[in-house]
Amino acid sequence: MQKIIIAIDGYAATGKSTQAKRLAQHLNYTYIDSGAMYRAVTYFALENNFCTTSQEHWNPQPLVTALGQLQLEMRFEDGQTVVLLDGEDVTPALRDHRVAQWVSTVAAVPEVRHFLVAEQQRIGRAKGIVMDGRDIGTVVFPEAELKFFFTADAKIRAQRRFEELQNVQPNLTFEAVLENVVQRDQQDASRAVSPLRKADDAITIDVSQLSIDATFDKILATLNTGG
Ligand code: DC
Repeated sequence: MQKIIIAIDGYAATGKSTQAKRLAQHLNYTYIDSGAMYRAVTYFALENNFCTTSQEHWNPQPLVTALGQLQLEMRFEDGQTVVLLDGEDVTPALRDHRVAQWVSTVAAVPEVRHFLVAEQQRIGRAKGIVMDGRDIGTVVFPEAELKFFFTADAKIRAQRRFEELQNVQPNLTFEAVLENVVQRDQQDASRAVSPLRKADDAITIDVSQLSIDATFDKILATLNTGG
């Protein structure tokens, strides 16, 4: 069968990466977590003390200037996107709450998007990929053969993310996770450059009442009927 590009976009914490990973495994495709790339640039900015002001008064210029020297390398191992910054594996740090708090602000910077979209398109040239994110079906691969758009009730999403993070970040409260999820959605959907938006030809899946298996069944059903 000819290899295609599959885009999975949608709101924060809707389980896009879980489904994308599973689908990639099922098809023997490469899974690419585009959010991890935005998180990596955010981590880089935090580590270099480029984010010391409030987000409201943040000046992205030092980060934009440093982008040229940024050594970002992605490896796709066992269905996971492993991110190396200057040769160091930073993947575990990308889930830190501080990264989650800043990532939508960093992702709104046009130069950051330009830099990462070019990299995503380069990776996608090989086809046979499932990429998840916010603008994959609209901007990165508008020609993708199959597109999904995930949505769900914010409280349900926050609860799932909270349970996921509880072991690694025991001090985190449900309220803080909910606030972050809602705030990121607002920021992602209202930014000027490639905002979070459903592509006209994307299939919407509301996962509020769906288990991981039920969601995957829906995806497979779509795949088998050719979209
Ligand atoms: O998928 P994620 O939650 O790991 O993504 C983190 C943030 O990165 C998200 O809040 C917005 C940004 N992002 C983006 O702007 N465009 C993408 N294609 C992927 C993520």
